[in-house]
Amino acid sequence: MRLPAPRGPVTTVLFERLTRPPHPFDPPSLGVEDDEDLQLALFTCYELHYQGFEEVDDAWEWEPSLLAVRRTLERRFEKWLARAVPPPTAGEPERVCRALTDLVAEAEGPPLAAFLERKAGPDQFREFVVHRSIYHLKEADPHTWALPRLCGRAKAALAEIQADEYGGGRRERMHSELFRATMRGLDLDDSYGAYLDRVPAITLATVNLMSLFGLHRARRGALLGHLAVFEMTSSLPNLRYGRGLRRLGGDATACRFYDEHVLADAVHEQIAAHDMCGGLAATEPALTGDILYGAACALTLDRLFAEHVLDRWTRGTTSLREASLAVGSP
Ligand SMILES: [Fe+2]
Ligand SMILES: [Fe+2]
Repeated sequence: MRLPAPRGPVTTVLFERLTRPPHPFDPPSLGVEDDEDLQLALFTCYELHYQGFEEVDDAWEWEPSLLAVRRTLERRFEKWLARAVPPPTAGEPERVCRALTDLVAEAEGPPLAAFLERKAGPDQFREFVVHRSIYHLKEADPHTWALPRLCGRAKAALAEIQADEYGGGRRERMHSELFRATMRGLDLDDSYGAYLDRVPAITLATVNLMSLFGLHRARRGALLGHLAVFEMTSSLPNLRYGRGLRRLGGDATACRFYDEHVLADAVHEQIAAHDMCGGLAATEPALTGDILYGAACALTLDRLFAEHVLDRWTRGTTSLREASLAVGSP
């Protein structure tokens, strides 16, 4: 993947630095908050821990002055989250599974999945897939950071879920590979990060949230709560996405990503809530509140994402950033 186009003063300074050999630098001043600039800057800092960028030296990953910038960006993001996500009522560790179920049941959001199932046109479905590609092409990676930080029942449960996400040892069954087939079926570029320039701040925020929780051991409870919500809110929406894609002429190969999740996540949600989160709360009861907070953050950001997309479509405009601003546009 190549560095995206900057979206403001912070990414302008950051990207100019990153194309040079690693060196200490003074942090860019973060003035007026611009979500596009801040979320892209944070996404770029995090990406150095995943696949990186062609023109950025790998050694930047642990350059202390860059890590200081990342921490400042994370604090901004954490403050924003604190305003957007009311902390759920603290629950008993032994009832964490029930508390997760209640949070999911109480969550409200606009009917994006139903719209994609019944009404979306082909261009809208392609837009949806472009948004989701930022995560699905690295599907499961952010939650894998938790594995070495867990033990016992929670670790075994997470390993079981991740093994499925990574295709059980078969490349063609990896969920990221299944998603590539969906993209190709829609005549989209399936290369990693191809649409980074097209997705808005809210889409980047949904992925940055996972990296924030994943890269900080202290947030392991929130990371597992986040994954539990992902799994618990997956089966029915994926059934709808698959129906929507078939309605638009998608073949079995293009729909397989969605079909696979209908079945797999019906199982994963049980493992995630009972064994993974239940197991962590049993061994580390002090993390119960953080598990629920991570779950609430996942639900809130998913709602804000759906509101953004449906709002733009209702107004007859694109939910993506304008192609003219982009490099590597479809
Ligand atoms: Fe998956
Ligand atoms: Fe899953």
